[in-house]
Amino acid sequence: MSNAQIQSLTGKVVIITGASSGLGEATARYLAARGAKLVLAARRTDKLQALAAELSAAGTDVLVQATDVTDMAQVQALADATLKRFARIDVLVNNAGIMPLAPLAKLKVDEWSRMIDVNIKGVLHGVAAVLPTMTAQAGWPHHQHRLRRRPQAVYALRNRLQRNQVRRARPVRGLAC
Ligand SMILES: NC(=O)c1ccc[n+]([C@@H]2O[C@H](COP(=O)([O-])OP(=O)(O)OC[C@H]3O[C@@H](n4cnc5c(N)ncnc54)[C@H](OP(=O)(O)O)[C@@H]3O)[C@@H](O)[C@H]2O)c1
Repeated sequence: MSNAQIQSLTGKVVIITGASSGLGEATARYLAARGAKLVLAARRTDKLQALAAELSAAGTDVLVQATDVTDMAQVQALADATLKRFARIDVLVNNAGIMPLAPLAKLKVDEWSRMIDVNIKGVLHGVAAVLPTMTAQAGWPHHQHRLRRRPQAVYALRNRLQRNQVRRARPVRGLAC
């Protein structure tokens, strides 16, 4: 990561799902060390609280929110709590995931369903919860409104974007799935 990219993390509001262990926890430590404001989400709040205590003692502004990503209402509550505390959402690290391993022949259909619930629906819940905020922050609602009313505007906007001539319509950044 370049110095400019690291500096650009300073003060950014970052939600991390699955922050209670593994990759999510490591990501939290990495981003905290680079000045991001963090929202730590997972089901095991004892682990989140311990991590938050450590990071806030080192100066990070951090919020903990109990979240099961399979439940859209809980993921929406996560986004709402983030906005209430920090008034913006810059990045979602859509990290919560499971990977139970078993031969297909074992027919562990419940595990397959669970993987879909967490790894697919959970990710989509995260996108749904933060995208309206991110598009509003990027100044997109006007363009979205036009696109709904006038389908031909989709092609015109796409062509302008491809020619890199649109100054105000910035890409939505910060969705990491
Ligand atoms: N580590 C690797 O090298 C590696 C490599 C390739 C792929 N992956 C995949 O990347 C993902 C994360 O790996 P990891 O090693 O960091 O695993 P991990 O240590 O088991 O962490 C998984 C995280 O996801 C959270 N989580 C699981 N179900 C959740 C749910 N319903 N709602 C909210 N949070 C949930 C867990 O938190 P709670 O249990 O507290 O909710 C935990 O924080 C997994 O899908 C794994 O298969 C990992």
